[in-house]
Amino acid sequence: MNDNDKNYADFISTVSHELRTPLTSIRGFAQTMLASWDKIDDDNKKKFLKIIEDQSNRLINLVENMLSVTKLQSGKEILVFKETNLSPIINTAVSIVKNQYKNREFKIDINPKTPSILVDRDRFMQVMTNLIENAAKYSDENSTVTISAGYSQNCECVSVKVTDTGIGIAEEDYERIFTKFSRIDNPLTRKVQGSGLGLYITKNLVENMNGQITVNSSGKTTTFEVLFPVYNSETLAREKCRQ
Ligand SMILES: Nc1ncnc2c1ncn2[C@@H]1O[C@H](COP(=O)(O)OP(=O)(O)OP(=O)(O)O)[C@@H](O)[C@H]1O
Ligand SMILES: [Mg+2]
Repeated sequence: MNDNDKNYADFISTVSHELRTPLTSIRGFAQTMLASWDKIDDDNKKKFLKIIEDQSNRLINLVENMLSVTKLQSGKEILVFKETNLSPIINTAVSIVKNQYKNREFKIDINPKTPSILVDRDRFMQVMTNLIENAAKYSDENSTVTISAGYSQNCECVSVKVTDTGIGIAEEDYERIFTKFSRIDNPLTRKVQGSGLGLYITKNLVENMNGQITVNSSGKTTTFEVLFPVYNSETLAREKCRQ
């Protein structure tokens, strides 16, 4: 087997495993309900249907992520760069995640003087949703996720930070979390579902939009920072962020 075949075989085996777990669970709960409908009380019926719904969402998320990965790898992703104001997109991303994580607090702190940036709006939204979702997912109920943004003198670009006070990330894992299908294996991440594709996609999208992404975690506080070039009407420069 050459390297390409091996990568392909590894990919198929990972994907099949990721698909089989939720499908087995959906089939199992559906079979139980069909076989024992009269013996199951309404509360349990609801519980089983909720599991079926959650696992279906997990499958949809996985398939959508895999489509994003395929597009990124084939180089067929077409980006439409436009002058973009951060606030409306960050507000929308927060309301999407809030709907799913109702008992987290979300604090948005965008400096009103923040200049607009040059990005593809849909992809920027995907980046923000992934980061805010992770921050909520890997932290406790009633904790606060903070999204702050402003102009950074250091890199002469716009900085957006997503901070949580959740389970934290060890420094030796900083690089690995941005690679395909990588999840940090501990009892806390095992409790929540994920395909390990979110940050791989996020990093690729950020870099395709000439930005940068970094992570920093100390104690319980974890911050993901993304930097994007400022929109410049004269040059429409798509220069990379310095730093
Ligand atoms: N804010 C965070 N705090 C702690 N750990 C995190 C955080 N964000 C990501 N991680 C770790 O990095 C891993 C990779 O994240 P990534 O978003 O790529 O995948 P995922 O959340 O597991 O699945 P999905 O593909 O559904 O996003 C996670 O499984 C988790 O272990
Ligand atoms: Mg994720």
